[in-house]
Amino acid sequence: AGPLPVLGIETSCDDTGAAVVSGDGKILGEALRSQAELLRQYGGVMPLAARLNHEQAIDEVVAQALENAKVKESDLAAVAVTIGPGLSLCLDVGVRKARSISRCWRLPFVGVHHMEAHALVARLTNADIQFPFLVLLVSGGHNLLLIAKDVGDYVELGTTLDDAVGEAYDKTARLLGLDICKGGGPALEELALEGDADAFKFTVPMRSHKDCNFSYAGLKTQVKLTIESLNINGAVPLASASSSDRQSRANVAASFQVVAVRHLEDRCRRALEWARELEPCMKRMVIAGGVASNKYLRSRLGAVAKEHQLDLFFPPPRLCTDNGVMVAWTGVEYLRLGLYDPPPPVDEPEDYW
Ligand code: KG4
Ligand code: ZN
Repeated sequence: AGPLPVLGIETSCDDTGAAVVSGDGKILGEALRSQAELLRQYGGVMPLAARLNHEQAIDEVVAQALENAKVKESDLAAVAVTIGPGLSLCLDVGVRKARSISRCWRLPFVGVHHMEAHALVARLTNADIQFPFLVLLVSGGHNLLLIAKDVGDYVELGTTLDDAVGEAYDKTARLLGLDICKGGGPALEELALEGDADAFKFTVPMRSHKDCNFSYAGLKTQVKLTIESLNINGAVPLASASSSDRQSRANVAASFQVVAVRHLEDRCRRALEWARELEPCMKRMVIAGGVASNKYLRSRLGAVAKEHQLDLFFPPPRLCTDNGVMVAWTGVEYLRLGLYDPPPPVDEPEDYW
């Protein structure tokens, strides 16, 4: 199984993920269950329903990851689990499972920060990414611009002031009547290909704020008002829309996407200037998190990196959205540095956590 295989567990939102990654960065086995039907049913993530799904899935997902990896619990070097940020009801399911494996098999336990896992997984797929590097994290819950100085050592340049970019994609997709079972982002990206991005002039957020923070609440409101003025009825699914209605929806999608990504471009340019003052030798940038799977974003931010002679790295799309691999890999990074908790006491009550 290679040196030091680590089991990683992720349950912070609506994906139940588990994976085993070896100490030399091989993905030995993984399993992922997402809650597509629930997303469609509720139009978003409902914490209680999501928790119930995690509870129903967790044992099987972990068993599947171990089986795919051909690794037994007794072969593991550690167990890692996302401990936050995320929905506490959901995080709890993964943490309990990880604690019980750690206790039962006397394994070191690594509590993982979800956003750090998004950032570090880039080092699993590309060994060239040495510290320090600039990181843009774009997910459903957070946007962050960071200088990664080392494992567990980050300088925050900018953060989310209100909605994250993924949330803006999801809400716009819902208002446009898109099928959001795979998340609103992919559906909106696809529809935007049919649209005219100049059809609506949305304002790029925070141009007068000379910092690296992010805001999407204003853009979301502009989009909502535009959709209302066009009499687009999001309750009518896209598949049933007339062709002119479909075109209007596509135009809104394309116009939204250009401005949503332009805001990221602006923030990255400024972050690069700041980062070069703090770390003059900065040569690399990583973009990760669910929204980093977006092709338009990849090409636009690719151009920004080129302008600044920076090597830009994206994890592959399946490792950008939530998964167990990123958690297992972060476990490997911490374990190598000796940063972990000893297993809980054998007599700790099961429901202690
Ligand atoms: O990182 P992630 O899987 O979960 C969180 O940590 O939040 O990110 C999920 C977000 C969702 O908002 C989803 O719509 C968005 O990532 N997303 C995308 C794309 N794929 C996923 N947004 C835009 N374009 C995509 N292709
Ligand atoms: Zn995430």
